[in-house]
Amino acid sequence: MARRSKLVAGNWKMHGSTAQNQGLLNAVISRTVELKEVGIAVSVPYPYLAQAQSVLANTHVSWGAQNVSQHEKGAYTGEVSAAMLVDFGCRYVIVGHSERRALYGEDSHTVALKFRAAQAAGLIPILCVGETLDQRDAGITEQVVAEQLDTVVELTGVSALAKAVLAYEPVWAIGTGKTATPQQAQDVHAFIRRRIAANDSVVAGELQVLYGGSVKASNAAELFGMPDIDGGLIGGASLVADEFVAICDAAKN
Ligand code: PGA
Repeated sequence: MARRSKLVAGNWKMHGSTAQNQGLLNAVISRTVELKEVGIAVSVPYPYLAQAQSVLANTHVSWGAQNVSQHEKGAYTGEVSAAMLVDFGCRYVIVGHSERRALYGEDSHTVALKFRAAQAAGLIPILCVGETLDQRDAGITEQVVAEQLDTVVELTGVSALAKAVLAYEPVWAIGTGKTATPQQAQDVHAFIRRRIAANDSVVAGELQVLYGGSVKASNAAELFGMPDIDGGLIGGASLVADEFVAICDAAKN
């Protein structure tokens, strides 16, 4: 079996201020410095990318954004291009977060275009997939996740996943305090890997698949201990230094 390293990525969503960020980032840098084998990243709101770059440059912590335009440049008022993210030293960008899909009408095709635009500029997209509670109850979790995944693979080819990260985030577990059980998460992660393996088993074996949805210090180790879970995408708990550091620690092998 391929050996995959773990990644813990914070998703600050629309939170923070320059003063708060400074304290949080400094705490994360200094308190995770021993965790050599764990990848650590934060996805910050656009206005704080310059701050992230200046605080995190030459540290072990990477940074990125939470969204990106599918367009390269042009008359798209309010949008931010992948090249601009690269200009601020981003390594990662989240695409297809369920809040973008649900609140901003991003369908799987738009998400796939964003994924492609991110990679074309040299960013690593963190592609989010996941079902709502209604979809889970209706027994169509795998169908929903497959559609979200396949739309990207159809546009970019399966080999593009070699330079990407996936995040399985059941919508019902995001910001609700309801975590998927380790087994529920593992089942979907294994499904994702099988589906990719049908096209390319090497890519499937090496791909990092994160779990997201109410991950906290108290449940992280159990989730990260599952065979197909390679770390987490962390919302609320990424804003609290003690929590985020403990979650990074839980990703140690
Ligand atoms: P949460 O959010 O950890 O606050 O549930 C996760 C996410 O939306 O990425």
